[in-house]
Amino acid sequence: MLADQDRIFTNLYGMHDRTLDGAKKRGHWDGTKDLIAKGRDWIIEEMKASGLRGRGGAGFPTGLKWSFMPKESDGRPAYLVVNADESEPGTCKDREIMRHDPHTLIEGCLIASFAMQAHACYIYIRGEYIREREALQAAIDEAYDAGLLGKNAAGSGWDFELFLHHGAGAYICGEETALLESLEGKKGMPRMKPPFPAGAGLYGCPTTVNNVESIAVVPTILRRGAEWFSSFGRDNNKGTKLFAVSGHVNNPCVVEEAMSISFEELIEKHCGGIRGGWDNLKAVIPGGSSVPCVRGEKMRDAIMDFDYLRGELGSGLGTAAVIVMDKDTDIIKAIWRLAKFYKHESCGQCTPCREGTGWMMRVMERLVKGEADEEEIDMLWDVTKQVEGHTICALGDAAAWPIQGLIRNFRDEIEDRIKAQKTGRLSAVAAE
Ligand code: NAI
Ligand code: SF4
Repeated sequence: MLADQDRIFTNLYGMHDRTLDGAKKRGHWDGTKDLIAKGRDWIIEEMKASGLRGRGGAGFPTGLKWSFMPKESDGRPAYLVVNADESEPGTCKDREIMRHDPHTLIEGCLIASFAMQAHACYIYIRGEYIREREALQAAIDEAYDAGLLGKNAAGSGWDFELFLHHGAGAYICGEETALLESLEGKKGMPRMKPPFPAGAGLYGCPTTVNNVESIAVVPTILRRGAEWFSSFGRDNNKGTKLFAVSGHVNNPCVVEEAMSISFEELIEKHCGGIRGGWDNLKAVIPGGSSVPCVRGEKMRDAIMDFDYLRGELGSGLGTAAVIVMDKDTDIIKAIWRLAKFYKHESCGQCTPCREGTGWMMRVMERLVKGEADEEEIDMLWDVTKQVEGHTICALGDAAAWPIQGLIRNFRDEIEDRIKAQKTGRLSAVAAE
């Protein structure tokens, strides 16, 4: 279990003072200008050496992403954009940072922006996060008043402006290029990539888009050293990580742990175990709604990191939003609910996603009631394959993968329901 002295988020549960005074007492804003004085190359090299992989879900190496930004200015301004549009079902970790530990994010924005030659940073916050944006704005105001932002920020010699921008409730605006469109005042629709934002991002200028947690860990990594951060976890899966555990555990929570902790340890130590015990565990979605579910019996010994969950279980760490389902769960209905969500949130600009999400949702609707033929399970699988990888952004994959996970892991349950419907035994099967 991660020791208290190794936690980056020291006020995750809001037990302490979140104001600037409280944050400083817990070590934030300590020697920020000295870190900046070490220079851009040092900061980027430390971030690469730390092994930090992006915490927004995709796991792209953060230091490497920063190194894509132009070293010399070509006359265009550079920007850092922090993606705080946390909307992946099950995911509520960034919310805790912004509510209770906002100064570690603000300090991270300054240091990261300096490393990428950005004099301005935008934090794009989910529209529904009203209390969080109030907390964050209050912390930004405090930082300006204390000279930590603005001209010669924190005495570093770097002029730096930080803006908080409110989203309006569209899931798709969490996709980085849709977010940039929205920030520019347009409809939030994803752009084709490449070009990646480092080449042409906000207003066509070099831009890096990073998740809240990725930026909030930067000051501590630089203060304590890349070696310290990379001492947690396994190769290629380094550091500490926020896990948001919800569903049928005795104590749902958001907790910082070492990457690569086992699922059993995570649940036993922090969540008080599975409701009804381990034999009652049916399924887990280990990384937010976009990744496939896994059967409960395969999860107990699972290692909670990018490579294990994808390589061994065909799922993913994603945002580390761990959704636990016990045997009372109607798993077909749970996945139908996700299909409905993705259909609702599709921006509609590419055909496989626009048409496919509706099609998949409608078939799922019938599977929930068992009103289908067994061949339709294979047909549904084929449709997910036609959507996956054939769309402009990852929402198409995100809509296809949960259904693939359902069919791969719970095909027997779908077939039983269809048979029960045909033989008039449906209520008995549903009650099992
Ligand atoms: P992606 O793999 O396309 O990109 C990840 C990051 O790496 C992006 O910033 C991208 O610009 C950069 N990148 C990737 N390849 C690059 C290259 N060759 N050159 C330069 N930069 C490169 O994934 P995407 O679409 O950004 O994110 C998908 C993930 O987001 C999903 O797996 C899901 O887990 C997560 N997600 C998280 C949500 C949340 O609320 N936090 C909401 C929805 C999805
Ligand atoms: Fe829009 Fe879906 Fe295409 Fe993404 S995959 S651009 S959400 S239609």
